[in-house]
Amino acid sequence: MKEVTYPTVAIIGAGAMGRGIAQIAAQAGSTVKIFDTQPEAIAKAREALFSQWDKLQEKGRLTPEAVVGHKSRLLAADSLALLADCDLVVEAIVERLDVKKNLFGQLEAIVRPDAVLVTNTSSLSVTAIAAGLKHPERFAGYHFFNPVPLMKVVEVIAGLKTDAAVCAALSGYARQMGHTPVQAQDTPGFIVNHAGRGYGTEALRVASEGVADFATIDRILRDQVGFKLGPFELLDLTALDVSHPVMESIYQQYYHEPRYRPSVITAQRLAGGVVGKKVGEGFYRYVDGAAQVSPEPPVPQVAEMPPVWVSPRAARRAELLQLLKNLGASIETGASPSPAALTLVAPLGFDITTVAVVERLDPARTVGIDMLIDDAATKRRVLATNPATRTDMRDAAHALFARDGKAVSVIRDSGGFVTQRVVATIVNIATDMCQQGVCSPKDLETAVTLGLGYPLGPLAMGDRYGPTNVLEVLFNMQTVYGDPRYRPSPWLRRRGAIGLSLMHTEE
Ligand code: NAI
Repeated sequence: MKEVTYPTVAIIGAGAMGRGIAQIAAQAGSTVKIFDTQPEAIAKAREALFSQWDKLQEKGRLTPEAVVGHKSRLLAADSLALLADCDLVVEAIVERLDVKKNLFGQLEAIVRPDAVLVTNTSSLSVTAIAAGLKHPERFAGYHFFNPVPLMKVVEVIAGLKTDAAVCAALSGYARQMGHTPVQAQDTPGFIVNHAGRGYGTEALRVASEGVADFATIDRILRDQVGFKLGPFELLDLTALDVSHPVMESIYQQYYHEPRYRPSVITAQRLAGGVVGKKVGEGFYRYVDGAAQVSPEPPVPQVAEMPPVWVSPRAARRAELLQLLKNLGASIETGASPSPAALTLVAPLGFDITTVAVVERLDPARTVGIDMLIDDAATKRRVLATNPATRTDMRDAAHALFARDGKAVSVIRDSGGFVTQRVVATIVNIATDMCQQGVCSPKDLETAVTLGLGYPLGPLAMGDRYGPTNVLEVLFNMQTVYGDPRYRPSPWLRRRGAIGLSLMHTEE
């Protein structure tokens, strides 16, 4: 067997996480000793892993020799004292500070002085768990994701007193287990759970303003940005009894930073037990495991299409005019719209009402279109009305933009469209993390793409849609809402003009 950084590894806690970590550690070639206060949990974990390996052998993914080897290296330990010879101890027990501190206190008296101790905590402070240890320098966070063998990223977290060499060795061992390590400072949510605050939280805020329903928001973010799951589908999958407490915990730990403010929508749904797919009802109803989604509103039939006038201040105006031409619209070129014209605006961050008023347009004929993303790069167009928009103008715009068969959603007026708001919030939170030094920009991108499955890392996402566009969305939304949650991070302001994902000496 190949050399590994830690030949003998103890796993404490044989639940979902301990089991997964034991699997990849044994596969890497370490001897693994599993301990749990419930002896039956150890037996169940070993049985489950044995049958997992048997299945992988049946599928031809493991050789019979490898399976015999893995099984021989997976041992049960019925007392902590049996862990004395371990090189690394991984704790994956109940998420309670007092219980974890007590366990590590006991372990210090048992293991060798050079053994490394790590916690798989997802929400507690690594520094707080290490406080009181005689040797906090050999203690770190080692945060895996569920299911461990498939989620190929691990956060290596340095507490205040952790020795950098310990983190380097843990990173090397992660690679031996087939995982990608990322290095995080000990801050609430570390990297993945912190960076993940933008998506669901902003989508909930959009829903709470009645801008669009849950299914429409999901469709928009899937089709416009390429997220595999919409935010409400994702919340249904993780379940609100897991995700709402995470939102609250990060908000509390950051002393009510407005960017992380949770939503009453999830608080109420959690209280009512409407937590997600596992109970058959969340943001969607589930029948035999399948979400029941109401069909999209049909494209309206419009007998006579009005001429179209485009505001000179529209974002991506040239592209919008070309699109209208391709769709066969009759385009007006005058300085102002004729009395019959459908009036199109394409703001970044501003609401349609404000734009109509500022540009002195007739709000009854004004409809907005989200042009943050190049039309060719999206599978859906999103239009927004203002409270005064006439239904014939709304329907004309809907029918016009659906002429080539592309999906169209019509939402209500708000500062920013759904995609603008969510993308800008994700980029803003990520760049704020860079500013705080939670991790390097490179590790941020790696952690988010592997840990959250986003189509792009947040910095690359900002670059794709234009850092100055993202900044404009945030500046204007701050004006519309007067809410500090939309203030751009200093990192985004500084880097907006030069590109976000460029790695410079400063990083
Ligand atoms: P789980 O409830 O499936 O398993 C916990 C196991 O620990 C149980 O078998 C329990 O008997 C055992 N245990 C409890 N107290 C113990 C003690 N004092 N000594 C020894 N064994 C003890 O929990 P799960 O989901 O595996 O989570 C474990 C840890 O991993 C928690 O700290 C959690 O925050 C963290 N985590 C969980 C993730 C998840 O998605 N489930 C993701 C990342 C981290």
